[in-house]
Amino acid sequence: MIWAVVPAAGRGARFGGELPKQYLDVGGRPLIAYTLDALLSHPSVHGVMVVIAENDRFWRGMDAVAGKPVLTCSGGAERADSVLAGLNALPDDVRADEFVLVHDAARPNLAHADLDRLLDLGCGDPVGAILAAPVRDTLKRAGDDGGIDRTEPRERLWRAYTPQLFRRMQLSRALAAAQAAGVAITDESMAMERQGLRPLLVEGREDNFKITTPADLARFEFVLSQRHR
Ligand code: CTP
Ligand code: MG
Repeated sequence: MIWAVVPAAGRGARFGGELPKQYLDVGGRPLIAYTLDALLSHPSVHGVMVVIAENDRFWRGMDAVAGKPVLTCSGGAERADSVLAGLNALPDDVRADEFVLVHDAARPNLAHADLDRLLDLGCGDPVGAILAAPVRDTLKRAGDDGGIDRTEPRERLWRAYTPQLFRRMQLSRALAAAQAAGVAITDESMAMERQGLRPLLVEGREDNFKITTPADLARFEFVLSQRHR
């Protein structure tokens, strides 16, 4: 029985516009509906805690998807604050040592095969695991003047995706410790790494992309148009 925390309390500043990107209309449904479908249609996922902004006017109040519970709670100023709030709000019967998934609301194209592999490998790891993909581009280190200082080796560099899979209490503690230390945390794994833990990298599909800019939305619309052919 796995629960997922879905942070959806961001404002989508880089996307722009008044409507936060997780609520944009895609084929007549809000973007987040695709994300919730991808999670809850998987047989191992039991329920989802959606973390929404305190003054959210756009959440449509679904309380079940595929017959499974969709609960909500209020998030915080940073993504890590929202995830911590979501972990705290999970039902009491989600045990402290149970694995939970954290998955961005703005990442609607998660494949079941990726989730299968993450759960298979991650639940067998003492710490947990994340989906990720190797860096493909050549990396440049810029100087203050915008000129290139040097080329950085990309061997062993990965792009971190979600879902990320960790034990409920261990992740809560790691996020709270980072918060107390005033360290900005950009994914769950980073909080665990700060504790000296070494999560497993699980290679995932590169089409599990996050919607950050309008170009990403156009890509997702294209993916959907291909899905229904
Ligand atoms: N998120 C959240 N709480 C925050 C910030 C982000 O729950 N305080 C969520 C977003 O809603 C999104 C996910 O975390 O589903 C990934 O974050 P990101 O892509 O950075 O979304 P935003 O923060 O909304 O976008 P931006 O950084 O461009 O403002
Ligand atoms: Mg953000």
